[in-house]
Amino acid sequence: MNNPDNLDVQKQLEQEITEDPPRVLEKRGKTKGGMINKHAKLQNLAQQEDKDLELTSIWNFGTREKGFGSHVFHGNCIPQVVRQCVLRYSKEGDVILDSMSGSGTTLDICKELERKCLAFDINPVRPDIRKADSSCLPLSNNRVSLIFIHLPYWNMVRYSEEKEDLSNMSLDRFYAKLHAIFAEQKRVLKPGSHICVLIGDKIKEGKSIPLTFETYNIMKNYFTYKDYAVKITKNATSVVNKGRVVLAELAWNNLLKPSHDVLLVFQKD
Ligand SMILES: C[S@@+](CC[C@H](N)C(=O)[O-])C[C@H]1O[C@@H](n2cnc3c(N)ncnc32)[C@H](O)[C@@H]1O
Repeated sequence: MNNPDNLDVQKQLEQEITEDPPRVLEKRGKTKGGMINKHAKLQNLAQQEDKDLELTSIWNFGTREKGFGSHVFHGNCIPQVVRQCVLRYSKEGDVILDSMSGSGTTLDICKELERKCLAFDINPVRPDIRKADSSCLPLSNNRVSLIFIHLPYWNMVRYSEEKEDLSNMSLDRFYAKLHAIFAEQKRVLKPGSHICVLIGDKIKEGKSIPLTFETYNIMKNYFTYKDYAVKITKNATSVVNKGRVVLAELAWNNLLKPSHDVLLVFQKD
């Protein structure tokens, strides 16, 4: 893989496990017998590289790949993020759920990667997305092998007039609704499987609202924390257009301009 960050990780790992294999492996609580471990780990790393998986926690994909979901859907997510999650946490033929499908980016990535996608949204915009509230899904228990959800950043984009639309409620109700939604995702997710949630923060009236941290705090009531990645965001068109006006407002409040989203990964026990 060409990503220089991935090459750094490989070099570091190779160095660690060749320098003094038994001591390093023991320190990490792994079995002794460095050679077997070394080859298994390097083989696994090579498999990840073959699949073009990101190996570090900073994801900077640049422009949005075309042909997945819609780039004109306000609040769409970049397909490269979904692809990383699907490749890393599922295998061909698995059933994957996106219960807030928006323009259908997850559906299209699943087609490419030969997974079956169950797609829902409270306000479906495509015939292959079914209408449902994410907190009440028409699915049996333990049905799916991976969940990918790109949450509304509270009311940053107003998606619909639906009462149960997360973008259409007070902040307190938004957090309460997230509890109901994650309880439901837990019900339909197979034990041992992963849930990936993409979320970013929001600035409102000169204050930063930490939606990311709050989502983490809510999710840990239902799942076991596994990992996270920081996804660098390109400037949203609205921010580019307003340019220095936005920066001046942030400077006035001594705030940084949010320039990343966070992908939270949890697992069902
Ligand atoms: C950030 S967008 C998802 C974008 C999508 N990943 C894409 O690439 O197009 C969030 C979606 O959540 C949906 N939504 C909001 N509240 C919901 C709820 N309670 N149940 C299901 N979907 C909901 C909105 O209609 C919107 O389509």
